Parts: sequence; structure tokens; C-alpha cells
Amino acid sequence: MNTNFKQIETPLFEAKIFDVINKGWFLLTAGNPESYNTMTASWGSLGTLWNLHIAISFIRPQRHTFGFANSSDKLTLSFFPESKREVLKFCGKYSGKDYDKVKETGISIFETPNGGVSFNEASFYLDTQKLFVSDMKEENFLIKELISKNYPNNDFHRIFISEVKGIYTNSEQ
Ligand SMILES: Cc1cc2nc3c(=O)[nH]c(=O)nc-3n(C[C@H](O)[C@H](O)[C@H](O)COP(=O)(O)O)c2cc1C
Repeated sequence: MNTNFKQIETPLFEAKIFDVINKGWFLLTAGNPESYNTMTASWGSLGTLWNLHIAISFIRPQRHTFGFANSSDKLTLSFFPESKREVLKFCGKYSGKDYDKVKETGISIFETPNGGVSFNEASFYLDTQKLFVSDMKEENFLIKELISKNYPNNDFHRIFISEVKGIYTNSEQ
């Protein structure tokens, strides 16, 4: 638990979300403090489904994070100040199979209220609980160019929909 992070009411959360996700990047972290992995992501969605606030994340099967996201129901999305860009670059280039990313980048973890993992250096994070998974299928793509551009190796993403249990902003940043 890190008490510098204050919960804000989810409907009141304001951000240039396309910009924040796609240009800002974030760490997608699956698991709990005893067993977790994190990776950089820049594709994702926030919205509403089943009358719940949800986040949608996309993970390719070869990622080390994939196994953690399958075996754990705790997923967090942690966003960082621009000064931590190198952390995001590292976590998007190297695998948790080969490196202890937290040790290598000098960031530190804490347990979120939902039992997941976020980082003391984040500027805000979404604490989420997995609800639904589904695999993208080749036959469901209506624009085949999307496949040739994004999946030359047929490594279609698994889609993870999770409920946003809380959004927490870092009052120290
Ligand atoms: C900017 C950026 C965005 C990325 N977005 C995703 C993504 O949304 N889904 C995905 O599966 N991989 C994505 N990746 C790739 C993973 O972060 C990368 O393969 C990472 O090394 C996986 O780590 P892991 O094997 O420890 O899970 C992205 C990488 C970068 C640099």
C-alpha cells in the first residue's frame, strides 16, 4: 500500500486518454506482489460495459506477462511521468523471462487495494479485476490489411476485459 496515492471517483477521471495511452505508454502488470510480471503497452481502451467501468488490454501469447494475466485475476495499468520513459522503454524491449525488470529499472512495487501490483514512481494507476478474455481470430478481421500490418506471425492478441475497481493518483507528483 502506498498512501501517496489518492483514489479519485472513476467517473470524474479526466485525461486525454488517446494521447495518454498511445503516446504516453503504460505498464500493464499481472499478478500479485509475490508473483507478477509487467510489460509496456500502448494499446488499450477505457469505457463502460455491463454497467461497469472497464479497461481492455491486449496481450500477445509470446509475452511472459501473458501467463501471469491468464493465471491471475489482478491487472493494473500504471502511467508514469515523462521522466520515466527509459523504464517504459526497457519494459517494452526486454522480457521478464530474462530480466528482473523492477531491479534493472530501479522502480519499486507496492500492493494495490485490489491485491495487484503498481509502482511507487507512477503518476496514476488503474486497479482492475479481470472479467472476460477472448482471442482475436483471423476470420473476424473485416479489413485484412490489419492482419498483414499487425500480425505477420499470426500472433493474435488475447483481449482482457477487466473492471476498474479504482483509479489512484500520486499526490507526490
Ligand atoms: C510502446 C510499446 C507498446 C507495446 N504494447 C504492447 C501491447 O499492447 N501488447 C503486447 O502484447 N505487447 C506490447 N508491447 C511489447 C511488450 O512490451 C514487450 O514484448 C515486452 O518485452 C514483453 O515483456 P514480457 O515478455 O516480460 O511480458 C509493447 C512494446 C512497446 C515498446
